[in-house]
Formats: sequence, C-alpha cells, structure tokens
Amino acid sequence: MVDEVIKLVNVSKVYISSGGVKTWALRDINLVVYRGDFISIMGPSGHGKTTLLYVMGTLERPTTGKVFINGVDTTTLSDEELSKLRNKEIGFIFQQYNLINRMTIEENIELPLIKLGIPREKRRKMIEEAMLKSGCEFSWLNKRPTQLSGGQQQRVAIARALVTNPRILLCDEPTGALDSKSAEVVLNTLKKLNELGHTVIIVTHDPNVASIAKKMIFIRDGTIIGEKVLQ
Ligand SMILES: Nc1ncnc2c1ncn2[C@@H]1O[C@H](COP(=O)(O)OP(=O)(O)OP(=O)(O)O)[C@@H](O)[C@H]1O
Ligand SMILES: [Mg+2]
Repeated sequence: MVDEVIKLVNVSKVYISSGGVKTWALRDINLVVYRGDFISIMGPSGHGKTTLLYVMGTLERPTTGKVFINGVDTTTLSDEELSKLRNKEIGFIFQQYNLINRMTIEENIELPLIKLGIPREKRRKMIEEAMLKSGCEFSWLNKRPTQLSGGQQQRVAIARALVTNPRILLCDEPTGALDSKSAEVVLNTLKKLNELGHTVIIVTHDPNVASIAKKMIFIRDGTIIGEKVLQ
C-alpha cells in the first residue's frame, strides 16, 4: 500500500466549453504507479496525455473517480490541503521550462523553498544539491534564464522541481523544445534521478523519448490501450 505512490481509480475528466460542448479528455482510467517506477505515457496529440499528467499530479481534479497519492484520497482534500501535499511530494517539469525571466537562476530554484517556508540559511545548500543532481553548473547562479541554452534551462527547471526533494517527478514533453543532443542530456538526467530513487513519469508523443523509461503506457482517445515493460 505504502509503495503505491499514485493510484487512479475509474478516473474520467470532461471539459465543457462555454457553448456546452463536452470533451472527454480521460475515460475510465485505472493506473497504479509504484515507488521507483520510471514510466512514459505515449500517445498522439490531443489524446489526453497532459490531462492525465495533471490529474495524476493533482493540478486538475477528476470529473469522476478517485486519485490517491501515497494512499491518501485526494478527492476529499481541500484546495489548500491538496497544494500542501503536492508541493511536498511532486515536482513538475514542462516543455517550455516555465522559468521566470526577471529572476536569476538561483532565485528561480529557490522559489519552491520560499513557498514551503524553508529558512534562508538552509536554502543555499538545498539549491546546490539540486543543481548537482540535475547537472547544472554553479556559474549559472547569477545568470538569467535567457542567458542559457534550452537544454541548460531545462536542467535548471529540473533543479527547481527537485529542490524540495519530492519523491515524484512528472514531466510533460520535457525534451519537446530541445535539439537531440540537449534532449539526450536531459533524458539521462531523468534516468539518473530515477536511479537515485525518484519516481519519474514522462509524457511524450516521441517513441525515442518514451523508450528511455522502464515501462511505456499507451493512451488513445483518453483511454489506456496498452502497456509495455522495457527493462
Ligand atoms: N482546459 C481545457 N479546456 C477544454 N478542453 C481541454 C482543456 N485541456 C485539454 N482539453 C481537451 O482535452 C483533450 C486532451 O488534451 P490534452 O492536452 O490532454 O492532450 P495531449 O495528449 O497532451 O496533446 P498534446 O500532445 O498536443 O500536448 C483535447 O481534446 C483538448 O482539446
Ligand atoms: Mg500535452
């Protein structure tokens, strides 16, 4: 039970447009993620990958069904309780890095620590540890995101996701904006983090990216249509 870090039970997600049109982004998803898993979620554009990742990460609530994080039924939590749990347990990595350009690299990585109320004297060490784990160089600390390459910015984004030491890393097309060389560095970083014990989930439409994981899950029209164990 404790080893089930994320569990989705009969999860569906419906978006309703202002005109009343319903889109079934997810239909009746059942999925268990165990501690230490390295999973890729594969599927074509518009078939529900991001929605699934957001529901797994509790950024979105399901329309029906239940989402458990470490055995806790998140559907019964208030928004405040939910964001506390999320901030502690889950780090997000996005295709476009989502760094704040008017802040330095250090300030970007520091932000989640400030949100969690970690005292200043502890923060620098945590920032440095996250940078080492994600392959960032300390010479970047005082730079701005726009002074770094895409691959470097993504490694900073990984450091920011890691700095609070979340056990789960959820990545939405983490290499989608990168050339193949930078993509490889980022994927190897994620692989290394999995070896260090983080549970890693990558959403992608790219089979080459998906094949780095230990298990692939295929999604079509909001439904899981199959899976493949790779290692
Ligand atoms: N906030 C939203 N409001 C309304 N419809 C949405 C919303 N987010 C997603 N959708 C719809 O839900 C479906 C699944 O979208 P989703 O973003 O999960 O797909 P995806 O597999 O991540 O696609 P891509 O590979 O292009 O990123 C699509 O039909 C999309 O238009
Ligand atoms: Mg998407």
